[in-house]
Amino acid sequence: MLLGIVQTSPHFGDKAANRKQIEELVGDKRADLWVMPELALTGYEFKSRAEVMKLAEEIPHDDSTKWLADFCGSRNSWAVMGLPERDGRHAYNSAIVCGPHRYIGRYRKIHLFDKEKERFDVGNLPFPVFDIGLARVGLMICFDWRFPEAARTLTLRGAQIIAHPSNLVLPHCQKAMVTRALENRVYIATANRIGTEHRAGNTVRFTGGSQLISPDGELLAAATDVTEVLIAEIQPKIADDKNVGLNNLLKDRRPDYYENL
Ligand code: ACM
Repeated sequence: MLLGIVQTSPHFGDKAANRKQIEELVGDKRADLWVMPELALTGYEFKSRAEVMKLAEEIPHDDSTKWLADFCGSRNSWAVMGLPERDGRHAYNSAIVCGPHRYIGRYRKIHLFDKEKERFDVGNLPFPVFDIGLARVGLMICFDWRFPEAARTLTLRGAQIIAHPSNLVLPHCQKAMVTRALENRVYIATANRIGTEHRAGNTVRFTGGSQLISPDGELLAAATDVTEVLIAEIQPKIADDKNVGLNNLLKDRRPDYYENL
């Protein structure tokens, strides 16, 4: 199957322009599964929780989910994308999976980064793995990378691909995800953004460098610091083989010796 990433440069608060940017970047390129950044249609640096609530959407009823399902319908593909979610009084930094003309499921970010803690509620759903037919796809969002338990949990739940919408601001994640791929023998698609947001006296710069990694830790494709699309051909079944010589990365675990895990 073809696994793709769209690395974008969103304009804060302009969902229509950000949708158009994704459509233009993808054009007539083909992938079976597209992974897009965290908060892909709104931008990242919300001034307040109230501003999050203004731009957040109900999932799956509101426009961004419908747009993504239609995007998938017109390309006969699947896609993962980050967006702010409103659920009653709660606000989550979420990601959704859609297939052709339909919503499949969501994840709510569990490890909130820095000021996100003031703007969002902590995710209250388990790390999800969705079987899209071509592959089993697990979801985590950006700073979840700093907690190896996230990728491990998705692996233990059967993920062959980890879709990782991101808005990275620190320089370490790209290297760390090579290790996450190796230690779990999974494919990883980290979809980052570029650009700078100046809001309420804060400046936040995003690092680009989106990447597709194989279960052997090889970089299949890597972006620089421009808007671009990455596509690689993968074989999800390779991720089912957890053997490394006489070892097996799951069977050789020794949870009795891991404190509180
Ligand atoms: C991040 O979690 N967006 C750094």
